[in-house]
Amino acid sequence: MDEGLIIQTADLKKSFGKFDAVKEITVEVPAGSIYGFVGPNGAGKTTTMRMLTTLTRPTKGQAWVNGYSVTEEPRAVRRSIGYMPDEFGVYDDMRVWEYLDFFAACYDIPEGERKRLINDLLELVDLSHRRDDMVDKLSRGMKQRLSLARTLAHDPAVLILDEPASGLDPRARVEIRELLVTLKDMGKTIFFSSHILADVAEICTHIGIIEAGEMVAQGSMDEMQSQMMPHREIVITVRNPEAAEKVKTLLQDVNGVLDIKDLEPQAGRSRIQINFTGDDEGVEAISQKLSEGGIAVLGFTEETKDLEAMFMRVTKGIVT
Ligand SMILES: Nc1ncnc2c1ncn2[C@@H]1O[C@H](COP(=O)(O)OP(=O)(O)OP(=O)(O)O)[C@@H](O)[C@H]1O
Ligand SMILES: [Mg+2]
Repeated sequence: MDEGLIIQTADLKKSFGKFDAVKEITVEVPAGSIYGFVGPNGAGKTTTMRMLTTLTRPTKGQAWVNGYSVTEEPRAVRRSIGYMPDEFGVYDDMRVWEYLDFFAACYDIPEGERKRLINDLLELVDLSHRRDDMVDKLSRGMKQRLSLARTLAHDPAVLILDEPASGLDPRARVEIRELLVTLKDMGKTIFFSSHILADVAEICTHIGIIEAGEMVAQGSMDEMQSQMMPHREIVITVRNPEAAEKVKTLLQDVNGVLDIKDLEPQAGRSRIQINFTGDDEGVEAISQKLSEGGIAVLGFTEETKDLEAMFMRVTKGIVT
């Protein structure tokens, strides 16, 4: 086991009959991270989470949460985690405070401590003003926040949240995202799933992409960017075709330049596209070379292949 990883799996597998929903995956979640577990419908996100939360037993392999084995020490695992399933549940006929009171009692929190705890949790998720309302009168966004408050009742180290932002409008999504960042700042590790990459990209420190039961890419956001984007496209704009020719001659031997091609001129200006595999220092070398060559550059842009494009590529199985 790696000390720095608060969730770790080894060849974790789940089969339903002959169908392998999760195929021997390795999940590595560093302590203190916000880890986005991303994949299309049916990829195996919920199944993985149900194994991590001890709700379903792995067919094969092992998983540790907070240092405890999900198969050998399931109670200790459950004490360490707060789990928010993808469905809200069946407690709609309670008041907001009763709902939290009920779950706090389930975690054996003494009656004398619960009132204060409930107040703190409601304040954290910004629902203090709704404490006496019936749960089924809450909006979906409020229900998600209440559900999140519930997972915090026993002050767990790790939150495992299955699609916490699903079905929410843009504003409610932002609220959930902000809440997750607050919880991270409180020292919690957050492992959450989503099939919407934009939800993940903004707040995550780490991401794992799962497809058809397999982890196709995993790492810190920085690692992912460089791992998944070895190709960069740089477009250089200069005044006229003569200058463009000069640029081509100057750059053809630069390390990492794969090919150079002319683009359609824009507003009478010549444009050259550079297909490049280098790092930032390589890009600096290119711009330096141009200035040394006395080229007057009108435009220098790098096409950013964003995470969304990367996700689409990866989940199609095309990792360039
Ligand atoms: N109890 C079960 N019995 C049989 N097949 C199952 C069972 N649970 C899940 N599956 C199948 O395993 C695969 C993975 O399902 P899972 O719910 O883990 O996906 P997911 O990534 O959470 O998808 P979604 O984004 O739709 O929530 C799917 O093909 C699903 O039909
Ligand atoms: Mg799911």
